[in-house]
Amino acid sequence: MFNIPHLDLPSLESISGVVQLPGSKSISNRVLLLCALSPGVSVVHDLLDSDDTQVMLDALRALGCTIVPSTHDDRRLEISGMDLARLKSLSSKSAEPLALFLGNAGTAMRPLTAALTALGVPCTLSGVTRMHERPIEDLVDALRQLGAHIDYLQNEGFPPLQIMPSRMGIDSPVRVRGDVSSQFLTALLLALPLLSDQGEIVVEVVGELISKPYVLITLRLLAQFGVHIERTDWQRFTIPKGSSYRTPGEIYIEADASSASYFIAAGALSRGALPLKIEGLGKNSIQGDIEFVAAARAMGAQIEEGPNALVVTPSLQPLKGIDLDCNHIPDAAMTLAVMALFASSPTTLRNIGSWRVKETDRIEAMAHECTQLGARVTTGDDWIEIHPIPLGQWRAASIHTYDDHRVAMCFALASLNPDHQTVRILEPRCVGKTFPDFFETLFSLAQTPTQRIPVICIDGPTASGKGTLASLVAKRLGYGYLDSGALYRISAWHAQSLGMALTLEHQTRIAQSVSELSLQFEGERILVNGHEVSELIRSEAVGMAASQVSALPEVRQALFELQRSSRRLPGLVADGRDMGSVIFPDAELKIYLTADAATRAKRRHKQLISKGIPAKMEDLLTDLQARDARDTERTVAPLKPAAGAMLLDNAQLSIEETVEKVLAQWQSKQAF
Ligand code: DC
Repeated sequence: MFNIPHLDLPSLESISGVVQLPGSKSISNRVLLLCALSPGVSVVHDLLDSDDTQVMLDALRALGCTIVPSTHDDRRLEISGMDLARLKSLSSKSAEPLALFLGNAGTAMRPLTAALTALGVPCTLSGVTRMHERPIEDLVDALRQLGAHIDYLQNEGFPPLQIMPSRMGIDSPVRVRGDVSSQFLTALLLALPLLSDQGEIVVEVVGELISKPYVLITLRLLAQFGVHIERTDWQRFTIPKGSSYRTPGEIYIEADASSASYFIAAGALSRGALPLKIEGLGKNSIQGDIEFVAAARAMGAQIEEGPNALVVTPSLQPLKGIDLDCNHIPDAAMTLAVMALFASSPTTLRNIGSWRVKETDRIEAMAHECTQLGARVTTGDDWIEIHPIPLGQWRAASIHTYDDHRVAMCFALASLNPDHQTVRILEPRCVGKTFPDFFETLFSLAQTPTQRIPVICIDGPTASGKGTLASLVAKRLGYGYLDSGALYRISAWHAQSLGMALTLEHQTRIAQSVSELSLQFEGERILVNGHEVSELIRSEAVGMAASQVSALPEVRQALFELQRSSRRLPGLVADGRDMGSVIFPDAELKIYLTADAATRAKRRHKQLISKGIPAKMEDLLTDLQARDARDTERTVAPLKPAAGAMLLDNAQLSIEETVEKVLAQWQSKQAF
């Protein structure tokens, strides 16, 4: 997951390959609650691992469920039903209310409010600021009809809430509004079977029910857990007397259909020839957002639907604008809004009033961000009209994400724009709500000409701090990091361990042995043929040997392609001698980091002492000066600033200040 202030998406050309998407959020959180309400142990497969499911799991744990993740499969866990005896003891008046924090997860807040009321668990339910702006009054009003004791702790009609035990009757029919959020009805349908020992319960929907497919998911899952609710149109729902939850034992969660919408769109917007296969859901999906397939087809997307996979082929023609009632696919409809930017005519999405009470006011958010990219957009209370962006008029933009995962994910598609503009996604971490690895997944399927992938090259003399600087800049930008010095260190260490002298006459054999190595870079760890060498290659002796081996032209040649191939999405920071001159001469930013020898010797001294390695300052200074002289004077890849490099003297700067300077220089080269 990219936990950084912003992520720049280079312009992408095509999307293809095979992708397995994470589990559905809606199904995951409903299933977790149903497991908790069912006696015995349930085994859940393919559960979504995200902020919202974490919130639900934490709440269920606090309520006494035992949750055991599988040691060998991180998408499987066992969950035992709640301990009702313990919950009853909580409901004695003297007990402190249990405090549950539910983040911004509507799929936890609404059903838990209803279920904990039905169970009579004294508790407070709160969330992030935005959660306290999302209405819940219709659900609370419905529960109060049955005798619930629920208080608003801040603003009337909104969380945080306090639930106190009370005598709950079954004053049927229970009326609930259906036109603000279908989650209120879902919450009642999940909770009221707990009261059905008193008799049949009828729930009546007041107003036109929105997002019906989500209610259908609820009904289907309830049936899987032994509760069969009778539905009369979308108006009346009857819970039979004596309904009780029974776990089906093993439950498989479908891939998330809303998450699939981004990849369906990406496959359709791809300018390549190859298809994209999306695995984990298909035409038999129980998720309403599978209807996105029909909407995307109406725009011209080529999609084949199998039982458990979708195959999207790039559209040869530009997409067409559509005019669509999106009440049935409120979440995936946001993806249509971004597809509309690429179409040949305007698109109107109607009946999307619920967008205004989601993670953010999505109508405002979508309108604002589409406009930033260059589109003309008009909006009403419950609709949005988007005009396509003509070729040549796409703008590089910095997209606000409003802590809304869907805004971040659907605007990532703008990186497929035909004008090759970069798209900056602010606070990309928000995708963690439903799809923590969204960007990594997108990059793994994306192709783009290499020259569009940004590279920052950093070089400088030994102990200038270039390695630390390069790795910190890479972290801040979410880019990969190439430590080319490590490659020469590994080459030297390996050649020496085979007994080879590091001289010109042995260079062919050394180069050959280097090209046969299997190298893995895992964060800070470096593995050679499966063995960790991270610390070992950092010694002064290996550094000296690296300096010798790096003067051998055939060794440099053997490492050439390996270094070039590390230029991968979304970008690279490369540290080392010839990064800016030979390996990536087209790099947009080249930094030559310097500091006087005495300062560098002092830094090296501190570093060695902190590692418990004895060192003398004078010796270090002499070594360092000798190395500078040798590196500068050698004919192969001498130490000198690459053409166009920015000289940065960091003798008086802390590492943080140096990082900020480089980031500021990088920013000054961006179009936004
Ligand atoms: O940056 P470092 O100390 O890990 O580098 C080890 C040696 O390799 C050093 O003498 C410089 C040399 N080197 C090189 O010639 N070309 C590179 N791209 C990186 C390092």
